[in-house]
Amino acid sequence: MTAKLIDGKAFAATIRGRVADHVARLKEEHDLTPGLAVVLVGEDPASQVYVRSKGKQTKEAGMASFEHKLPVDADQETLLKLINDLNNDPEVHGILVQLPLPSHMDSSLVINAIAPEKDVDGFHVINAGRLATGQDAMVPCTPLGCLMMLRDHHGDLSGMNAVVLGRSNIVGKPMAQLLLGESCTVTIAHSRTRDLADVVRQADVVVAAVGRPEMVPGDWIKPGATVIDVGINRIQDGEKTRLVGDVEFDSCAEVAGAITPVPGGVGPMTIACLLANTVTAACRANG
Ligand code: GUN
Repeated sequence: MTAKLIDGKAFAATIRGRVADHVARLKEEHDLTPGLAVVLVGEDPASQVYVRSKGKQTKEAGMASFEHKLPVDADQETLLKLINDLNNDPEVHGILVQLPLPSHMDSSLVINAIAPEKDVDGFHVINAGRLATGQDAMVPCTPLGCLMMLRDHHGDLSGMNAVVLGRSNIVGKPMAQLLLGESCTVTIAHSRTRDLADVVRQADVVVAAVGRPEMVPGDWIKPGATVIDVGINRIQDGEKTRLVGDVEFDSCAEVAGAITPVPGGVGPMTIACLLANTVTAACRANG
């Protein structure tokens, strides 16, 4: 391996420490405790793990954590009523509805029912629009975490060729907007992109967010490029299951200048950014 390992786990711990300091000051100087409400519908095991982890880290940072669980067959009206109550609750500064929602619910409608200023996921259409037009927005946590790692590693990203693999509303599109905001030349590649390998080979920065295990081999990577791997894929390895990213770590690490591991790269940064967004929301709500 020749690439520098970008340690998201350590970086996330630093951010959580800064958030905790900020929370302590808000309490002392403004009698303000930032609060995050997380809503989980159903019992998807992966979602349960994420929600538990979010609640734990919220409390560890000194913030208030409110967990709301609805059964998988809850009707949409019940969820919308809960969101409305949380929108009107002054102790709640951030609201996160864990995705995916059960198929009888309209995710877009549900997300857009969250007050934009409490939308700490940054998924509301108002926040997506604000980000796309360069205005102050709640920025989705995963791309924000990726950008923080890139800025930390490179400083100035201006003029770099960035290729984002994946065009989801949660990662790909906001990631591309953020990189554009850093004055990168941005390409969004996806399942219909022609000559994908050649496109990726042009990149000084690759952000892979396609959800396909080890899709990117080392010979697609430009020597010295920075590789940010958003993928978290569980694959069967004999008797055991193993977590792998969207890039083939060993071969990419031979060629890249820097690379994030899976696990321990982007994942921990996502929750750290969620905590930071909640503090931002609390500060804005209290002038
Ligand atoms: N499910 C997987 N990732 C996320 C996320 O970042 N936010 C929410 N709300 N649900 C998710």
